[in-house]
Amino acid sequence: MTIDKVVESSAVHRIGILTSGGDAPGMNAAIRGAARAAECLGIECIGIRHGYAGLINGDFIKLDQSAVKGITGRGGTMLFTARSSKFSTPEGVEEAAGVCKHMGIEGLVVIGGDGTFRGALDLSKHDVPVVGIPCTIDNDIGCTSYTIGFDTACNTAVDAVDRLNDTMQSHERCSVVEVMGRKAGHLALSVGVATGATIILVPEVKYDFEKDVNERIRAARLAGRNNFTVIVAEGAEPGYEVADKILEATGIDTRLTMLGHIQRGGSPHVRDRVVGTSMGYRAVSLLASGFSSRVVAMRGDKFIDLDIREALSLTKDFDYEMYKTFSALTFLDKTTLLQTFKNS
Ligand code: F6P
Repeated sequence: MTIDKVVESSAVHRIGILTSGGDAPGMNAAIRGAARAAECLGIECIGIRHGYAGLINGDFIKLDQSAVKGITGRGGTMLFTARSSKFSTPEGVEEAAGVCKHMGIEGLVVIGGDGTFRGALDLSKHDVPVVGIPCTIDNDIGCTSYTIGFDTACNTAVDAVDRLNDTMQSHERCSVVEVMGRKAGHLALSVGVATGATIILVPEVKYDFEKDVNERIRAARLAGRNNFTVIVAEGAEPGYEVADKILEATGIDTRLTMLGHIQRGGSPHVRDRVVGTSMGYRAVSLLASGFSSRVVAMRGDKFIDLDIREALSLTKDFDYEMYKTFSALTFLDKTTLLQTFKNS
């Protein structure tokens, strides 16, 4: 079926929407985009609360126009989110698929990260049509250049680091800021570049602590700096270890800030509202057109969709070019800077 046929007759008449895994700002925009697209196309929309656990337990609400009114600008997820140990078993998946059949749910929009997509793939094997929407502050999903929530989380962290920089400057201190990102350093890189950090530590780039951290801080101090900022991705090394080692090696008064779950909250920024709304609408269009086992994604500024198995097989590249350029600009390394010009 093609999208123009959908207006005449949708392939699905009742769908469910759920959010699963860690929440991210913009989830509500995606819920609203999907719910309103469904309403537009004459598809009944059910909100499944508490992720896959709620699907098994039948924790449902009606997601009509009034239920999603005014949620685009709200952080968190109105549908709650959870991790279900039962759903991670074959019996749990079968039970969830049985609930869909029993309730006449002919398609599911699942909003979350790759764990959420793996669950969706399992369900699709029981003939439940599914479409995934990538949503995590980590931006670590291989199939898409952007995940909903990343921009807001970056801005939240940048705002915090800017504030820390003020007081670090007054007291001539070193600030170590641990940011989230799971096993990836995308969030740390963007935050570090945006705040002009002294050093960024990410799991993707190996470092020798003495040479790449302590010596660089000493060099920066000799060059006249009196305050320093180290952004460390949680996947690279615990922030407290970084702070302890810097204090011990340099004697500089060092303070640790772990931004933690603050990065996951707050009103979504424009990009997350817009991408969330667009992906929500696109997910429903795919189900209405008879597609299943797809993930809505972005390639640059364009929206695409791809098979969920392919989506799960892809890994996200780290932006090494950006990382090198950042170091070159921070430490006025002309050779590296010229090299990155050549390669770009
Ligand atoms: O995946 C999103 C994320 O916020 C990671 O950055 C972090 O490691 C993890 O979730 C924290 O999960 P929890 O909500 O279980 O503390």
